[in-house]
Amino acid sequence: MVRHFRTKYGYFSEDGFEYVITRPDTPRPWVNVISNGDYGLVISQTGSGYSWRTHASLNRINRWEQDLIKDEWGKYIYVKDRESGAIWSAGWKPVCTPPDSYRCRHGIGYTTIESSNFGITSSFTVFIPNEEPLELWYLTLKNSTQKIRKLTIISFLELCLGNAPDWHREFHKLFIETEYDAELCALFATKRLWEVPGENGHWNVSWPYVAFHSCSVPVESFDCDKETFLGRYGNVMLPKAVVKGRGSKRCGKWYDSIFSLFANIVLEPGEIKTVIFTLGATEEKTQAVELIKKYRSEANVTQAFSQVVSRWRSILGASVVETPDLSLDILLNVWLKYQAISGRLWGRSAYYQTGGAYGFRDQLQDCLIFLGIDPRQAKQQILLHTRHQFKDGNVYHWWHPMTELGLPSDLSDTMLWLPYAVLSYIQETGDYSILDLQEPFVDEKNLATLYEHCTLAIDRALSRLSKRGLPLIAAGDWNDGLNAVGRKMQGESIWLGHFLYAILRDFTRVCIYYDDKERAQMYSMCAEKLKKNLNAYSWDGKWYRRATKDSGEPIGSKSNAEGKIYLNAQTWAIISGVAENKRSQIAMNAVEEHLEKKFGPLLFSPAYTAPDETIGYLTRYAPGVRENSSVYTHAAVWAIIAEVIAGRCETAYRLFSKINPINRGMKPGEYFAEPYVTPGNIEGPASPFFGRGSWTWYTGSAAWLYRAVFDWILGIRADFDGLIIDPHIPSSWPFFTAKRTFRGATYLIKVENPHRVNCGVAEIRIDGVIKRDLHALGSGFLVEPLPGDHHELVVVLGKRRRNLGISLCKGEL
Ligand code: GLC
Repeated sequence: MVRHFRTKYGYFSEDGFEYVITRPDTPRPWVNVISNGDYGLVISQTGSGYSWRTHASLNRINRWEQDLIKDEWGKYIYVKDRESGAIWSAGWKPVCTPPDSYRCRHGIGYTTIESSNFGITSSFTVFIPNEEPLELWYLTLKNSTQKIRKLTIISFLELCLGNAPDWHREFHKLFIETEYDAELCALFATKRLWEVPGENGHWNVSWPYVAFHSCSVPVESFDCDKETFLGRYGNVMLPKAVVKGRGSKRCGKWYDSIFSLFANIVLEPGEIKTVIFTLGATEEKTQAVELIKKYRSEANVTQAFSQVVSRWRSILGASVVETPDLSLDILLNVWLKYQAISGRLWGRSAYYQTGGAYGFRDQLQDCLIFLGIDPRQAKQQILLHTRHQFKDGNVYHWWHPMTELGLPSDLSDTMLWLPYAVLSYIQETGDYSILDLQEPFVDEKNLATLYEHCTLAIDRALSRLSKRGLPLIAAGDWNDGLNAVGRKMQGESIWLGHFLYAILRDFTRVCIYYDDKERAQMYSMCAEKLKKNLNAYSWDGKWYRRATKDSGEPIGSKSNAEGKIYLNAQTWAIISGVAENKRSQIAMNAVEEHLEKKFGPLLFSPAYTAPDETIGYLTRYAPGVRENSSVYTHAAVWAIIAEVIAGRCETAYRLFSKINPINRGMKPGEYFAEPYVTPGNIEGPASPFFGRGSWTWYTGSAAWLYRAVFDWILGIRADFDGLIIDPHIPSSWPFFTAKRTFRGATYLIKVENPHRVNCGVAEIRIDGVIKRDLHALGSGFLVEPLPGDHHELVVVLGKRRRNLGISLCKGEL
């Protein structure tokens, strides 16, 4: 069996679809975020974690605490040998006996923990069926000894049932009621309070679900009382009831409620037995009963499992690449898409950051992962966000599904992600009819077209310019931590200027299509003015400044002692086209000189060392972490795109390789984080833990990294008029192939690089025929949408003189 990227903690399976952890004591909890779009759970390699329905914070099922050191809250299975008295866990926590063997396989839509303890080999798989609000724990136990073994299997979790954390437990526990159904071998729980504001802002409603937990084998006893289960002053490592092998059979309204089921099994030597547990939450008890009955059957469980696997295979299989860089392939083919979809869009929660809300800008960016897979899903997300706009063009910065409560904020960029996403959707699909779809506003029921929603957002941004004609930063921009720069509505955001310019330029085209000539002209004029102003007022000599404070003082300038140069102001100058040729080179040289470190480009440098009330909360972080001068992955990914556009292909790939979590994960003692998903940030040199990754899973960098590599390094990306083929690869690559769907057809693209160049398409064969009439675009070509549902493209990169850098790469054929 091939084990890819093996370290002392684990490896990728041969096909890259599993990360196999080989010891339970990883440097931090290494988790999986599993969701079917409604029900979700986080599980670590120790078996700890939490579950929710629809919203990970408003509707948490079990109690859990974010403790990255102990990782000792969760839903556990204890196993007790009734004869020897030995006790262990099917995961590793909470008993933590040293297992004779152990493997945790985090897969796509499931996690399996296999271990061997006291002669019993167990395999414990957790997954969520595609369309139902529950999780299944599929446990098999094998007696690997010569003796008959009598075991008690005991489940345990503390009930939360609603808002999390329920920090005032003495209050919250008073509303929970548990009940046991002997016939079904199942526990049920309700809560007569759900602290979500009702119509008048008061909360006085019941949690609108029934939680249930069942076992497929006969239950001998149960416990719904934490006190009898753990024992007074007891703990989860060795609960009193587990030692006894019997639950108190207490349930009702008066306890600190838990779910715990006790089942006895006997295993002959060599015998294997299966025990299935369910845990879920339904609106009606009848539905819970149906699910309990359905999943008593092993056949139904295995069928649900294979449906999960095939759903993911079909989502992930829509785009596939094969390059000389296996880590790139594993990331693009499997994990980045899975992280973006399961973690960011469906689960919206993780371990370092628990959530549940929709971030207006966040999930709009994430949903673009669907463009090359199934653009309808991106469209649904866009429409959902559209309904969270106010009629003045502003939007909720985030809002909670379930309650619809949101935060109308004054961040300056948030609303602009709507036109940005719509533009990306149209580039992908050519479907301008999305602009005619109608949606209401948060504060007005009357419908408006998506075109109007978008122009309202753009117009709002245009109405908030400084005297110099640069966008005001207001309560912050993409960088949430710059939240004090422009409180008095004087401070400016240079990055936002770049972003707005890109939107104005592209939306002009949409206006023309929409036959709104006046607006097209207005946007195009504003764009040109903005570009001029940005170049006139924000160039610092060797790079673009990042912002100006209300006082007019610059941020991200050589005149600053800390925060001298910021990454986004350079990368977006290039991505947007604000920077002309020479400046784009100078700015990216500055990035290389001042920001690029061993593990990627810093968000800015140097770090702030003391809180600054005139900048914002990012100055309050310890130096080198998060938005205070770490490698903030989301922003670092934009540097890859900028380098490609600047024609610096080797640099683009080098940056990718530096932030690539699989590469970083090869030094787990230094990196700490999971090697299979992107981290929110990698600590910068100002931190004593330079190179450590954290805030994994819940980061917008996953979808962006996918696009940076697929669209820009591999150079296959959708544009208004077709598919652009313009690879910008390391010159050492002899070939790569990519499969992608585009406007209803599957494209198989084989890129050959016989002369080992970085870029420059010399020839394209479409379905066997050399095409000479393609539209040249920079160093690549545009392939107009082709009829039919399957096409094969062979792309030959042209021979170049020695790679002298960008000028050879850009615009030449
Ligand atoms: C977090 C936020 C995102 C923001 C970024 C930078 O990831 O969710 O909206 O853009 O931080 O501050």
